[in-house]
Amino acid sequence: MKNILVTGGTGFIGSHTCVALFEAGYMPIILDNLSNCEPNVINALEKITGARFPFYQEDCRDPTIYEKIHQHHPFESVIHFAALKAVGESMEKPLLYLNNNINSTIVLMEAMQKLGVQHLIFSSSCTVYGNPESPMVTEKTIISKPESIYGYTKMVCEQMIEQVVELNQAISAVILRYFNPIGAHNSGLIGEKPVGIPNNLVPFITQTAIGNRESLSVYGNDYPTRDGTCIRDFIHVCDLADAHVASLKYIENKSAKKSFTFNVGTGKGTTVLELIQAFEESTGLKLNWNFTNRRPGDVIEIFANTDRSNQELQWKAKKNIHDAMRDAWRWQQAIKDKNT
Ligand code: UD1
Repeated sequence: MKNILVTGGTGFIGSHTCVALFEAGYMPIILDNLSNCEPNVINALEKITGARFPFYQEDCRDPTIYEKIHQHHPFESVIHFAALKAVGESMEKPLLYLNNNINSTIVLMEAMQKLGVQHLIFSSSCTVYGNPESPMVTEKTIISKPESIYGYTKMVCEQMIEQVVELNQAISAVILRYFNPIGAHNSGLIGEKPVGIPNNLVPFITQTAIGNRESLSVYGNDYPTRDGTCIRDFIHVCDLADAHVASLKYIENKSAKKSFTFNVGTGKGTTVLELIQAFEESTGLKLNWNFTNRRPGDVIEIFANTDRSNQELQWKAKKNIHDAMRDAWRWQQAIKDKNT
């Protein structure tokens, strides 16, 4: 089995990707400082796959860690998930976000170069498109001024990676721009577990349904969309995980040292109210929600043009929002006691 270093491998998207990697015949080697998740994820991954993944609880900004890992588990590719990702917090603690997200990517690329590791897959976000002029964005859509420091760190990391690759530093890269990942693994053993009050829509929906929150506030009902609420491209986290396996195979088969950028979404826009409806339909529950004011900084409408990822990566999202809401609900029920 080929070893793949997975930074942030115990996080929401990272943990689901570790499962997908293992199922595709790769061995994930996890590097995570556990700043936003619990060590128990390693046990959950073992329950799902039957394998105990090597795990290093260290910070990605530590330049000494990579050589140590490489000695024990030689790897040729890295998937770099590890990053801070709370948009609001990034505006309160900009230097924390700049230091963490940007420095980790620099230190990692230096280590890759030193160790002769060639392939990098980087977690980016559709946040780099800001508020686009047209809602369906392609990879060629102009990157506008980021709405947050979090978005800024993603934009800077993308550009740094492109520059390093262009200057022929023996690294090739795939940059994946995620749309809105939701859902959970269908085992109910791993999923999204926000610390404190969730910022993102789906954890707030499931926590409200289970009784941890009184009511979901839907931010704004007067947007110029079909029902007045914002539109997003919600993608099942397992589909997103599969996109990483496809990217890895893609980059392993390319001899040229280049960087490739892909949108990873479903290609379909869903309003906030449509997502609530999908939750109610797939669980049979009635959700308590009400309209409140718009949330500052929210993009009105964005969804992916997925032609490039569908064609080049030979990958396509297979699951729909009903699958995702059913799986998110199963996960919420599994962690019920821990969230109160
Ligand atoms: C945000 C980030 C994005 C990140 C993504 C996933 C920005 C600009 N983008 O996306 O970079 O990748 O999270 O972590 O911040 N909503 C409610 N009530 C709630 C929560 C959300 O109505 O309690 C609405 C929002 O107004 C929005 C939609 O649900 O229209 C989705 O919100 P959210 O899940 O926070 O994701 P984004 O803001 O799209």
